[in-house]
Amino acid sequence: MNSNLKKGLCVLSFLTAGFSLFGQSTESDYLIKMDVDKIGPTIQPTMYGVFFEDINFGADGGLYAELIKNRSFEFEYPFTGWTPFGDVSIRSDKPCFDRNPLYARLINRKQLTGTGLINEGFKGIGIKTNEKYDLSFYARTLKNETMKLKIEMVSDKNDIIESKEVSINSKPWNKYMITFAPMQTCSKSSIRITMLTTGVLDIEHISLFPQETFNNRSNGLRKDLAMALKDLKPGVFRFPGGCIVEGTDLSTRYQWKNTIGPVENRPININRWNYTFSHKKFPDYYQSYGLGFYEYFVLSEDIGAEPLPVLNCGLSCQYENIDPNQNCPVDKLEPYIEDALDLIEFANGPITSTWGKIRADMGHPAPFNLKMIAIGNEQWGTLYTERLEPFVKAIRAKYPNIKIIGSSGPQAEGKDFDFLWPEMKRIGVDLVDEHYYRSPEWFLSNANRYDSYDRNGPKVFAGEYACHAPDKENSFLTALSEAAFMTGLERNADVVHLCTYAPLFAHKEAWQWRPDLIWFDNLSFVKTPNYYVQQLFGNNAGTHVLALTKNGKAVSGQQNLYATAASDATDNTLIIKIANTGIDQKKISFILEGLKAGIHAVTLTHLNSSDLNAKNSFETPDLITPKVVHSEINDNKMDIALPPLSFTILRIAR
Ligand code: AHR
Repeated sequence: MNSNLKKGLCVLSFLTAGFSLFGQSTESDYLIKMDVDKIGPTIQPTMYGVFFEDINFGADGGLYAELIKNRSFEFEYPFTGWTPFGDVSIRSDKPCFDRNPLYARLINRKQLTGTGLINEGFKGIGIKTNEKYDLSFYARTLKNETMKLKIEMVSDKNDIIESKEVSINSKPWNKYMITFAPMQTCSKSSIRITMLTTGVLDIEHISLFPQETFNNRSNGLRKDLAMALKDLKPGVFRFPGGCIVEGTDLSTRYQWKNTIGPVENRPININRWNYTFSHKKFPDYYQSYGLGFYEYFVLSEDIGAEPLPVLNCGLSCQYENIDPNQNCPVDKLEPYIEDALDLIEFANGPITSTWGKIRADMGHPAPFNLKMIAIGNEQWGTLYTERLEPFVKAIRAKYPNIKIIGSSGPQAEGKDFDFLWPEMKRIGVDLVDEHYYRSPEWFLSNANRYDSYDRNGPKVFAGEYACHAPDKENSFLTALSEAAFMTGLERNADVVHLCTYAPLFAHKEAWQWRPDLIWFDNLSFVKTPNYYVQQLFGNNAGTHVLALTKNGKAVSGQQNLYATAASDATDNTLIIKIANTGIDQKKISFILEGLKAGIHAVTLTHLNSSDLNAKNSFETPDLITPKVVHSEINDNKMDIALPPLSFTILRIAR
């Protein structure tokens, strides 16, 4: 063995405490073969992607950089997020925005308390010194007079961080803006607005954004969180969910047309994760749709991912709403189908088309080049198939090149799954969405799941998956199980064309569902070991599968090894991904048949931990991170000592 390589690996090789799932292997030597010239199936550039849903305050309070909660006073209880003081009422006469008509009227009669409003943000307002923040609002006076407002950033200790004054001198609604440059960092500040002059003032859509957003877009996204997405190198971007697509009833379903146009006039919607789990209620959880479909398409472009919208199929959540009369009758699906066709036009239509023009008016005349669309989220039964069919017919007729994705239901096997797959073939969708939130054991034993799938049917979109282990959410155990499983996805890249871990984001103080890929608070975030697994796959996807065998068989669980290999035509490298779920170091000899004689540079990237229960946390965010070792091999033989409990990427220059 090359001494450098050995040295690098030895540093990372150590025995660990036992864990029943990953048994001690008896073999000490392993020979794995790979034929570097036998180019196999294409790995789709869309293979590894991201799933986004506004769950766990992932959009409002998360990726969407707006810092004011309930900026338009439109929540069911209009003062949610606000503490009014003095004389403050909510009105809707002569509104500023017809689709978000509520606003606040402030009356100052020199009450001792003063009159004004305090906004608490999303579990506080996170602000950083050295950053600037734009606060904007719409206001009007009732008489021809100048009214003065004091606007303060207040710390969680009730100290004033910064104070500004604004004069309001317009009877018609008018927009005002001021900029804060706080001299301190505070994760839980608030905004206090106080009337300085006596009289009456109406105020609406009070908004606070950091000036610096991802790619410096207005109405933008939190830079750190969006960068974390980009760093995954996602090939595909599923949006907006998830159950949120369905709504608890159809009136609360996700309607993309409500999410475009000026943000001030996008009608808000209750978020279903507000009340879905009775043990985790968040009455202050609504969707502002500030991160709407336009922002989604722009973000997809910015992070280099193909957009994959999921649309409602005329069914509300089948778990929550079991009354079939609550669903849209099949003969009344027209508006739902039209929504799907219009979305394609919004994304791809010329600027002379109705929806293409709206896209252009919003700032993106060029088409977004949408290539696929999913109809229905976790749907099942004939309720679903009889609705899906007319969608497929209409989309095929108008947009024959758009790929259509159907659902196989919420479970990865069983009655509904067995009904739906043949139905998806009959209906002729291009891909079938499978979901699995399962145990580590399930992930390991399903690493060969796709080996026996029909090669001639629809392709697979592993559209929502995550390894669930109670009390061990986002532990190294779950990440390693996912890595082992994902080698099976890639090995079957002729069948599996897309996969997206779910959910993506979770606010540390406001989550409903875990595990999640990225945890955040108001100022920082933590990448889970699961994130690093996704990142390692995404950044090392390769372009074609290569056969990798041990004793003539794919490496899928023998002696706790799971592996796949690829070539990357873009930089002429070979890529091996290998998970060792055993607690023993594995000495492996790779024979890379066909690799030319001479020296080849090798980069090894390891993700490992001696503790399967270990997690990254806000206190120790870098406990488990990939470590890179550079080395080289001679000719076509590569001997490595694979650390116990590890996931390794080997990148070999040809
Ligand atoms: O990812 C969380 C939820 O899990 C999704 O909203 C839903 O599709 C699935 O049940």
